[in-house]
Amino acid sequence: MTVKEIFETMDYGPAPESAADALAWLVDQGDRFGHFIDGTFTTPGDGFDSKNPATGETLATLSQATQADVDAAVAAARKAQPKWAKLGGHGRAKHLYALARLLQKHSRLLAVLETLDNGKPIREARDIDIPLVQRHFYHHAGMAQLMADELPGREALGVCGQVIPWNFPLLMLAWKVAPALAMGNTVVLKPAEYTSLTALCFADICRKAGLPKGVVNIVTGDGAVGEMITTHAGIDKVAFTGSTSVGRHIRRATAGQGKGLTLELGGKSPYIVFDDADIDSAIEGLVDAIWFNQGQVCCAGSRLLVQEGIADQFHTKLKARMDKLRVGNPMDKCIDMGALADPVQLQTVTSMVDACDSGEVYRATGDLPANGCYYPPTLISGLSPADPLMQEEIFGPVLVTSTFRTQAEVVELANNTRYGLAATLWTENVNLALDIAPKLAAGVVWINGTNMFDAAAGFGGVRESGFGREGGWEGLSAYTKPIRKTKPLKKVEAFTGSEVAPMGVDRTAKLYIGGKQARPDSGYSRDIWSKQGKHLGEVPIASRKDVRNAVEAARGAKAWGKTTGHLRAQILYYIAENLSARSEEFAKRINDLTGGKDGAQEVEASIQRLFTYAAWADKYDGAAKGVPIRGVALSMKEPVGVIGAICSDEAPLLGLISAMAPAIAMGNRVVLAASEAFPLAATDFYQILDTSDVPGGVVNILTGPHADLADTLAKHMDVDAVWCFSSSDLSEMVERESASNLKRTWVNNGESRDWLGADGQGKPFLEAATEVKTIWIPYGE
Ligand code: NAI
Repeated sequence: MTVKEIFETMDYGPAPESAADALAWLVDQGDRFGHFIDGTFTTPGDGFDSKNPATGETLATLSQATQADVDAAVAAARKAQPKWAKLGGHGRAKHLYALARLLQKHSRLLAVLETLDNGKPIREARDIDIPLVQRHFYHHAGMAQLMADELPGREALGVCGQVIPWNFPLLMLAWKVAPALAMGNTVVLKPAEYTSLTALCFADICRKAGLPKGVVNIVTGDGAVGEMITTHAGIDKVAFTGSTSVGRHIRRATAGQGKGLTLELGGKSPYIVFDDADIDSAIEGLVDAIWFNQGQVCCAGSRLLVQEGIADQFHTKLKARMDKLRVGNPMDKCIDMGALADPVQLQTVTSMVDACDSGEVYRATGDLPANGCYYPPTLISGLSPADPLMQEEIFGPVLVTSTFRTQAEVVELANNTRYGLAATLWTENVNLALDIAPKLAAGVVWINGTNMFDAAAGFGGVRESGFGREGGWEGLSAYTKPIRKTKPLKKVEAFTGSEVAPMGVDRTAKLYIGGKQARPDSGYSRDIWSKQGKHLGEVPIASRKDVRNAVEAARGAKAWGKTTGHLRAQILYYIAENLSARSEEFAKRINDLTGGKDGAQEVEASIQRLFTYAAWADKYDGAAKGVPIRGVALSMKEPVGVIGAICSDEAPLLGLISAMAPAIAMGNRVVLAASEAFPLAATDFYQILDTSDVPGGVVNILTGPHADLADTLAKHMDVDAVWCFSSSDLSEMVERESASNLKRTWVNNGESRDWLGADGQGKPFLEAATEVKTIWIPYGE
């Protein structure tokens, strides 16, 4: 191109970044990689090629890990973990700091390697991925330093198995490794098969930084290796980022193994533009939302919802902007969009769009390179909300668009998806933005900005976008556990008897659904006997239909989530007051049921527990995070929704209240399965609820076999979380069945809980009762 032509077209000239150093690094490693286990690289084994998706050239050959490799990596991590934890916060902080410094010193090598391996524009790898990686290690060096002071009573989980995808290879590694190490865990990580090179370069950096052997282990290979790691008996916690289908599979495959699990999965995130928005800014935002990283972003703003009045103008401007996007050699610093990560991904995107036989497909008119995994920026309009492309993650540079008229309509459209990862709002009206943000089912909301990330701000989804948060204080709970002594769970058996009850006025216990006592749909009841074999009464056996009715009632009571913490506190105090007035009667009932003498103590503890959560109702605060933008990231605590809780058998009243009170204090509605062995304390409790101003549907109580109730609740698509404290160990079943809609679970893993002690209340309950929504807001100057 001549200078004259450049002036005439005002086109960019090429500004290629050199690949020489990165290619030389690969040659230095022998172009073949083994795994990084116990501080050294293993001899390369049978494997597969890692290719540059922009050119198809082979960059290196990687090894496919065998079961023996995974065993060795887990054993190395296991051996290293106690010493690493004992090193203390400051000791670990120094190591994390050293890693951050080395990542900084080799930042260009890492950026170039990432672009060669993944196909993303060097501009993005250099200015976004790698700086965020460094920031994550710096930030978590600080978390290690502060752990003892700020997280008293918590300790490392042990060995973490981490499986990551190919869209942000090194950044996803940083998100997983930094918090794990900071909290005293060791890791076995598997990068995605298409993009393992920066993870291997990171292994080299760990070696250079003098990280103790075995603290970080990296094994390469495909999904089969991922499966070996996630299901390995020596792994205490699994952290996964990737597709919802694999996340669901991992949930099932690890059920009942006692492992911690966090899943960061797919999304179909709405990008909402109101008619008062600054349109040009919103269009630039959209470029970042869906054409950043070729659209291969879990939280990509892939569903445009634009208000009808500005729709034509917006789409016209958008198409003009799309035509100007420069797609090509990712190593060129003037390129907007590079190559998709692999021919397989190109094929997936192509066939999804080709299968779309309705709507109108607009492809940007700019040039595409003849070879390589390139796909043009694409806009699809005119689809119905149920169309597969409106619902499914395309994971490529393809935007679907539709319009809305009213605020209520846009909330409905935005939430019309099984996902709930992120959402973007564009408006000049801050009142409107702050009104809509809490109504969106999403873990992250960006206002007048998009795709912003930071180590200090939690990231993660709701619904089928997975559970758990990465980043911020909230990200640390996934890598720690409360220090507590546990005993194996002992099944509490109901007493049996035969003595006929003396004739009196019948007092029939029923179910408690929607604020009313309801006869069971099944039409069955069962006898309840005292230890001495005396007939104490009968309780209904709730059927699946009763569970469904209870869930429906709970769903219907959603206004409870919008009440103030102050109001919820008052109601909890009122329940305590009414229970206190009848404490003797309840104490006697508990003694009769359990055959023990601690009824009075249990009632007193129940009253105290109600006070505790009344106190917390307006004090479990969110935070404003100091993120490096002109703004803040609010971390808001929201209720999870409808929680099904299988209550403790051994403490018939306290177990029920210990699950109910934190859940409703945080704005959830509950379906409680009462103690299976001793249910009559729960059925007596209905009257307390009736007289305490608890709105109908907020608390629903069922009686019957825990196994059946837990099964129905775990499978139910409209239940958001299941907690299981039953003395029948139902952990495996609850976790497996929860995969239906990827609901959150909290199970006892065959361990008992001291309901009377501190173990029966506190932060773990509040945390399980809330979701963190991170809302990014422009603020200040
Ligand atoms: P994937 O979910 O299969 O792969 C992600 C990681 O999981 C890789 O490291 C892979 O080796 C591993 N893996 C695969 N099967 C596994 C198993 N059974 N157990 C344990 N680990 C396993 O994603 P894939 O096939 O690479 O991409 C398919 C689609 O997934 C994409 O088109 C996109 O829609 C979605 N995806 C979403 C991501 C996100 O960040 N939300 C990231 C990557 C893909």
